[in-house]
Amino acid sequence: MVSTAAKPYRAAGRFAWHFAKGKLGGDPAFVELLRRGLIPPNSRILDLGCGQGLLAAWLAAADILCSVGNWPREFPPAPKVTSYRGIELMPRDVERAGVILGNRVVVEQGDIRTADFQSADVVVILDVLHYMPFSAQDDVLNRVRRALGPNGTLLLRIGDSAGGWRFHVSNYVDTIVTAVRGHTPGRLHCRPLAQWKRTLEKLGFAVTSVPMSQGTPFANVLLVGKIGNGAAVHV
Ligand SMILES: C[S@@+](CC[C@H](N)C(=O)[O-])C[C@H]1O[C@@H](n2cnc3c(N)ncnc32)[C@H](O)[C@@H]1O
Repeated sequence: MVSTAAKPYRAAGRFAWHFAKGKLGGDPAFVELLRRGLIPPNSRILDLGCGQGLLAAWLAAADILCSVGNWPREFPPAPKVTSYRGIELMPRDVERAGVILGNRVVVEQGDIRTADFQSADVVVILDVLHYMPFSAQDDVLNRVRRALGPNGTLLLRIGDSAGGWRFHVSNYVDTIVTAVRGHTPGRLHCRPLAQWKRTLEKLGFAVTSVPMSQGTPFANVLLVGKIGNGAAVHV
């Protein structure tokens, strides 16, 4: 699955390809989204801070492999995606994402602090909000809540600042990877898990938290926020 999803990035250069293989193979979030069925079928996905659009490539590969029967029996079927819209600040990443664009896949250069989110069924924010001050994080989450339709889902991965030494390792590696990807590392704005949950609950989300660092030394947690019937998901 990793090699299928990473393959299109060969056309975007060695860095984009190797980065895709490393991230998709080493970050548990991508497999877990599928294994736990966290993306409902036929969703309009909005991926904020999408980088080079790895999630779109991953879901496209999942769809192909599932439809030819090359799919783990214990996983729910790969979700068919109605559309994927990524918004990414860095032009270099948007350029790398050029190789995965299609009818239903767009990646726009923009700043999620000001971009129009329009409407979506699933909003994905993986490892992004800590780059901006708390007031901007709150504003983004408010606008996400308004963009989500009935039964909408927010998939927000954060680093838990109460996570002890693992949290410090996360931040250290984050700073290195940020530099390797050609960005300028800046101050990080992190919160403890309990505070993240309260923030989302105040916005009306029923929140479930799932540890999302398996196989890594990090303190990452995926927050699954559901609106609609108010029921937290079973994960
Ligand atoms: C750690 S990377 C994660 C990329 C992607 N979500 C993934 O999991 O593969 C964080 C991304 O957020 C982007 N980002 C940070 N601040 C942003 C902003 N204000 N608007 C849009 N993108 C932003 C960065 O440029 C970077 O590509």
